[in-house]
Amino acid sequence: MKAIVYTEYGSPDVLHLAEVAKPAPKDNEVLIRVHATPVNFGDLMARNFKNVTPRKFNMPIFFWLPSRMAFGWRKPKKNVLGSEFAGVVAAVGAQVTRFKPGDEVFGYRGANMGAYAEYVCLPENGMLALKPANMTFEEAAAVPYGALTALSLLKKVNLQPGQKVLINGASGGIGAAAVQLAKHYGAEVTGVCSTPRVGFVKALGADKVIDYTQEDFTRNGESYDVIFDILGKSSFGRGKKSLKPKGVYLFASFKVKQLAQMLWTKIAGGPKAICALSSEKPEDLAYIKGLIEAGQYKVIVDKRYRMEQAAEAHRYAEARQKYGSVIIAVG
Ligand SMILES: NC(=O)c1ccc[n+]([C@@H]2O[C@H](COP(=O)([O-])OP(=O)(O)OC[C@H]3O[C@@H](n4cnc5c(N)ncnc54)[C@H](OP(=O)(O)O)[C@@H]3O)[C@@H](O)[C@H]2O)c1
Repeated sequence: MKAIVYTEYGSPDVLHLAEVAKPAPKDNEVLIRVHATPVNFGDLMARNFKNVTPRKFNMPIFFWLPSRMAFGWRKPKKNVLGSEFAGVVAAVGAQVTRFKPGDEVFGYRGANMGAYAEYVCLPENGMLALKPANMTFEEAAAVPYGALTALSLLKKVNLQPGQKVLINGASGGIGAAAVQLAKHYGAEVTGVCSTPRVGFVKALGADKVIDYTQEDFTRNGESYDVIFDILGKSSFGRGKKSLKPKGVYLFASFKVKQLAQMLWTKIAGGPKAICALSSEKPEDLAYIKGLIEAGQYKVIVDKRYRMEQAAEAHRYAEARQKYGSVIIAVG
């Protein structure tokens, strides 16, 4: 089968199309013919991991080390990127009962990657679900990473209807999902992004959008029940005055400093800092599918590329010009 392969870390030019062995499903696995896979934050980072120093890594050093070991120290151990996909079931293992050939599905392989390929295998009880009926393969492929991560992290703060939430990094993979999920929970949502993506975040349903190049949300006099910082670009020290007395500062990206703030605020009372790791579950994907089919969650596809244009797709995503998802159409 064809796959987009990389054998060296580096610029988008390390990506090239190659013939690799087609996987065969085990008894409990489903073989999927991939139709679309997006370029997300994890793909860009993994492609260039050798140059992601502990300082550039948005997590504590004790996460960086095992991640580098897992992905490969000098050269990538996993040669095919792609954590999420949508496609059609091509074959099933002998014990599979939930899926059959011809089913349209979408799924998430997380750090296992491998979706930049014509075929992938997943256990039937893994992060795999029937594709939402009202989405194209390209749209559905771009759902799992952002939606599952945002859902898992937002569960930590138990959002209530009417609460005010600010999402710092609202135009990215996780943020775009968080805006829509917070709206679904009945919150009043303010999204923060840069000038070109203000319209995009509004189109996702945010009640208000702050352009961080024009306005510092910590100085606008507003106060929020939850501030969800995706990239860790704001600081709890400065931002906590924008929280209500029992407010929560939720970090998707954090360092030791934020972990210490979490510990301290747990003891001291008042506004809390929470550093959370996503722990997705297969039932979460089914839940998201339900939201999509109820018209409460959407994906906006910005650009599409063919497999042989993978380097171009990465260059475009990396240039931070995108409005929504960048998709690689497979096959
Ligand atoms: N906790 C977990 O379990 C977990 C799981 C997965 C990922 N992560 C973390 O999540 C991060 C990736 O998130 P993502 O996939 O959503 O990234 P992404 O798609 O690259 O989006 C990044 C977002 O941050 C915004 N941004 C950039 N500079 C900013 C600034 N100075 N102030 C405010 N916003 C700014 C961008 O807006 P503009 O483009 O408009 O500038 C964009 O909305 C990584 O740090 C990763 O480590 C955490």
